[in-house]
Amino acid sequence: MTVTTPHPTTSPSVAAYAALLLAGDVAAAALPAQVPLDTTGSATSEPWTRYGDWPDKDYRAFNTLSSRVSPPQPDRPVEITAPVVGDVSAGKELAFDRSRGGSCVACHVMGPDTPELPGNVGPDLSLIGNGGRSDTYLYNYVRDARVYNPATVMPPWGTNGLFDDGEIRNIVAFLKSLTTPARFSNPLDNPANRPPPKEERDNLDPLENPAMQAVEDGTSLFARVGSSGKSCASCHASPETAFRTWGAQMPKYSPTMKKVLGVEEFVTRHGRTTTGDDLAMQSDDNTALSVYLRYLANGTPIAVGGDDPGERQALAQGEKLMRTKIGQLNFACMDCHAPDKGANKWIRGQWLGESRGQTDHFPTWRTSRAEIWDIRKRFQWCNVAVRANELPPDAPEYGAIELYLNTLNAGLPLSVPGIRH
Ligand code: HEC
Ligand code: HEC
Ligand code: HEC
Repeated sequence: MTVTTPHPTTSPSVAAYAALLLAGDVAAAALPAQVPLDTTGSATSEPWTRYGDWPDKDYRAFNTLSSRVSPPQPDRPVEITAPVVGDVSAGKELAFDRSRGGSCVACHVMGPDTPELPGNVGPDLSLIGNGGRSDTYLYNYVRDARVYNPATVMPPWGTNGLFDDGEIRNIVAFLKSLTTPARFSNPLDNPANRPPPKEERDNLDPLENPAMQAVEDGTSLFARVGSSGKSCASCHASPETAFRTWGAQMPKYSPTMKKVLGVEEFVTRHGRTTTGDDLAMQSDDNTALSVYLRYLANGTPIAVGGDDPGERQALAQGEKLMRTKIGQLNFACMDCHAPDKGANKWIRGQWLGESRGQTDHFPTWRTSRAEIWDIRKRFQWCNVAVRANELPPDAPEYGAIELYLNTLNAGLPLSVPGIRH
């Protein structure tokens, strides 16, 4: 299996996808009203607290997917009247300091001293000192590039408090000193030549993928009698046939709950009213049952989204949210995952995948974390990584994003559990 092989078709726009749905080419519908659901309360631990082994910094001063609180964007550049004098070596240290929001080398190559594994989301700045850029331009590009390019993906280092005025001046002094092309002692340090990672492990081989254990655990949980005296199997005698395609049609909009439910939230809410079990989202039991249910649909092409008006609205909301800037680093999902932005490039040593190809293997084993992540946990990580507070896993915003993201993955056969770095 290869993660980075381009998928055969390009992503359909929402409008094109809606047309497909109307033409009846996509088999999907909203969650039927007769499916028993506990619609009360949260589907996860309440109040939501971040996982204990994650960075614990609170980013409430910055936008999340549900709040708009970041400092306002300046409406014009600051006028710099005298030439910027700063400390070149202090500026270089800041530009290379990966603990400062990834800093500049996350996206730029910067001359012969560039540290290992720089990224290439931004242009090579090795010759920026020859470039005839004014001090006002350089100062403001670092302080808040939005004054020149409203669509920039560069974090507003000054406005969002990552670097102060003195630090920005030192960085500008360093930029002005850059007049020599980069040299890479290790050719793999050059992001232009670094080969994209390939995932070649067999995700369905239990000897290679520890998450295959969850398929077994999920099978037993399906037969486990809950507090109501019933198991899932009491009402669903042959899940292999009944749910052969179901997992590939999730998430679904629930007109009753007026939000999109993924497999995981469905399991919690359906379980509470049927077996009586509390299968809270992000519990091991929830994850195992969700892996099992998606596994049953392996090979089935992803087909989500119906013509329920609420579902259409959620789809549009999902697309909008994926273009919404959040966090101290001020990134939208699409800044990293759209091919016309950061996707298929390197951010530091990390390859940015594009949205198509990202949902067919969830829940997935993460080797670097030695645990299974469902898609909502992945969304949460991509929030915290840009220094935005994550939302609880059952947040309607994540439901909308999961729905939209799956329309971008339509037609790809499910292969669960996945395995990734
Ligand atoms: C997330 C990626 C990213 C990071 C991190 C980043 N940049 Fe950029 N930068 C870009 C991109 C992309 C451009 C191209 C223009 C644009 O999109 O605004 C750019 C453009 C620039 C330019 C303008 C170049 C020109 O030729 O006009 C300067 C100067 C610059 N960056 C400096 C920095 C400095 C200094 C830092 C660290 C403090 C930094 N960048 C961090 C992505 C990034
Ligand atoms: C008391 C009976 C009962 C129990 C117990 C039960 N279900 Fe259901 N389930 C239903 C009914 C009724 C429906 C709606 C009709 C149908 O699809 O069969 C349903 C529907 C479903 C669906 C399809 C939903 C859709 O989108 O149409 C799935 C998947 C499902 N159940 C899984 C489970 C799992 C997993 C468990 C154990 C946690 C479980 N069920 C326990 C009665 C039950
Ligand atoms: C700063 C860049 C960045 C931003 C912004 C970002 N991500 Fe990610 N994302 C990554 C990286 C790095 C990975 C791991 C490498 C990869 O698979 O792309 C990743 C992985 C993922 C994956 C799993 C990919 C896979 O194949 O297993 C999903 C799904 C995802 N991101 C969704 C999102 C969503 C939704 C948002 C917005 C809420 C978002 N990302 C924002 C950098 C980002």
